[in-house]
Amino acid sequence: MYKHPSTSENIEKLQSFGNKLIPSGFGELASGLVGEGRMAEPSEIIEHIISDLSSDLPFTDKKILITAGPTYEAIDPVRFIGNHSSGKMGFAIATVAADLGAEVFLISGPSQLQIKHSLVHRINVVSAAEMYQVVHKYFSEVDIAILSAAVADYTPKKTATQKIKKTALALEIELSPTKDILASLGAIKQHQYLVGFALETNNEIENAKSKLQRKNLDAIVLNSLQDEGAGFATDTNKITFIDNAMNEQSFELKSKVEVAKDIMNEIIKKTNA
Ligand code: CTP
Repeated sequence: MYKHPSTSENIEKLQSFGNKLIPSGFGELASGLVGEGRMAEPSEIIEHIISDLSSDLPFTDKKILITAGPTYEAIDPVRFIGNHSSGKMGFAIATVAADLGAEVFLISGPSQLQIKHSLVHRINVVSAAEMYQVVHKYFSEVDIAILSAAVADYTPKKTATQKIKKTALALEIELSPTKDILASLGAIKQHQYLVGFALETNNEIENAKSKLQRKNLDAIVLNSLQDEGAGFATDTNKITFIDNAMNEQSFELKSKVEVAKDIMNEIIKKTNA
């Protein structure tokens, strides 16, 4: 039946209308004969559909690096210096970027969040130093890097190997600055479109713009702590996207997933993706 001229004609007619063909398989047919014309395996049908749906997405064939969550800086084997970042914003960006066809390297500090997407590779790290190493390992092969992690600015100069015992005296922990991952990428970037985040409490726009210039970024996403519902561990965020020509685009308070879509839309516009 498959070889019959009327079948071939009908297939051609359907294709001429713009329909795509999932080729039939070879093997045992309903008639008991062996040959061409067997229904493609369901897994092949699904693969064809997924690859067709993702073939003309804005970020197909693009690689995006995203940092998310907090970092933990060890004081001793049981204690650390951390912050309240949940990772929600970075994980939302990773999901949206992958839905837009990108292969995503999500480099995450400690976070309870789960992510399941065939295009997202999650790499877990703990400290700022570890995040720095992993980010630099992947940076040369990506097209876009979005650094949303709340990286610790300071780390204990020494990590005690044993649990520090309580004494009557005040405990002093000497801190040294961590390496600024975002600025280090700004200093070496070539083709990459580099996006940073800024969390500000005063002179927000001015501070964000100067951060963008200082760290040699292509764009910065400003979160203002003055906006209720924006910032750490909330499900919503309110942002202003600033590009390197200092154009500002402000958005309403929205869910972090909707904010992630706004951010990715801005990046699509700026990179002509
Ligand atoms: N960042 C980073 N590495 C660090 C500190 C921050 O990559 N060691 C990145 C964050 O992921 C974010 C951006 O830098 O994208 C801005 O972080 P923020 O804390 O707002 O700014 P700082 O550069 O730390 O400056 P300040 O705290 O003085 O505002």
